Amino acid sequence: MRPLNRTSHHRGLHRMRGFSFTMRKAHPTDVNQFMTLIALADPDHPDPYGEAREFVLTRHGAPLEGEGLLALVAVDETGKLVGALLAGIPKWVFTHVGIPTQFEIPLSRRVANVHGVAVHPEYRYKGVGRSLIRQAEEEFKAAGWRVMTLEHPAHLDDYYARLGYTNHNAIVVNLPSSLISVRIDDTRVSARSLHPRARLASVFGIPGPVINGLLPGTDMPENAWFDGRRLRS
Ligand SMILES: CC(C)(COP(=O)(O)OP(=O)(O)OC[C@H]1O[C@@H](n2cnc3c(N)ncnc32)[C@H](O)[C@@H]1OP(=O)(O)O)[C@@H](O)C(=O)NCCC(=O)NCCS
Repeated sequence: MRPLNRTSHHRGLHRMRGFSFTMRKAHPTDVNQFMTLIALADPDHPDPYGEAREFVLTRHGAPLEGEGLLALVAVDETGKLVGALLAGIPKWVFTHVGIPTQFEIPLSRRVANVHGVAVHPEYRYKGVGRSLIRQAEEEFKAAGWRVMTLEHPAHLDDYYARLGYTNHNAIVVNLPSSLISVRIDDTRVSARSLHPRARLASVFGIPGPVINGLLPGTDMPENAWFDGRRLRS
């Protein structure tokens, strides 16, 4: 039997608990509503998601190109924006000191990050947040990305776990040369594989999932363990 809470999809129309909405990429005319909504995902920031404003205004037609940004909106039947999502390449790919320069570009075509997702307070618990995240996953997956990550406060652990994400204080990435640990301030860092080659493995000695298979030569043996410096099997 079909679970009651499932969102039904029909020609791009999502219907859940009597509420219908569609999703699309943000248009330049959405910019103010988009910025107001997405700010809800980082309310303490002085200029939340400032980089999204110019993107929505000028490069809306070229998602996933250049800086790899994706700005999605959910729209109700009256045309009102009820949800927003911004995703792109995680900053740590270019700033983490442990990543050799030659791996930065290849990694940036493999790892995507949901920078923020927010739903208008009156439209929560209707499947809008989940649908936006699933849509972003589909877009990046179709364009060849292998893993989706996100940063979130600990109180949303259950929310993201139900969407198939791991919840930890850090994620570890297996690179051809080394393991790197990604930790972002006090937030949780979560991940979900989008590709059969990208596997999130738990490894003895490492307190979070290890992401394998993003770059050539980084598939890890099943029995791998960490000796404090490197992987052994
Ligand atoms: C987090 C947020 C995006 C969720 O959006 P939403 O549209 O209400 O969520 P959905 O309806 O898609 O929820 C999917 C499932 O998670 C559950 N869920 C929703 N919010 C939850 C929460 N805060 N904690 C735990 N579970 C939650 C829902 O009950 C639903 O489960 P169900 O299908 O069994 O009913 C929304 O609450 C929001 O905008 N919050 C403020 C901004 C924010 O914190 N963004 C995230 C920053 S990383």
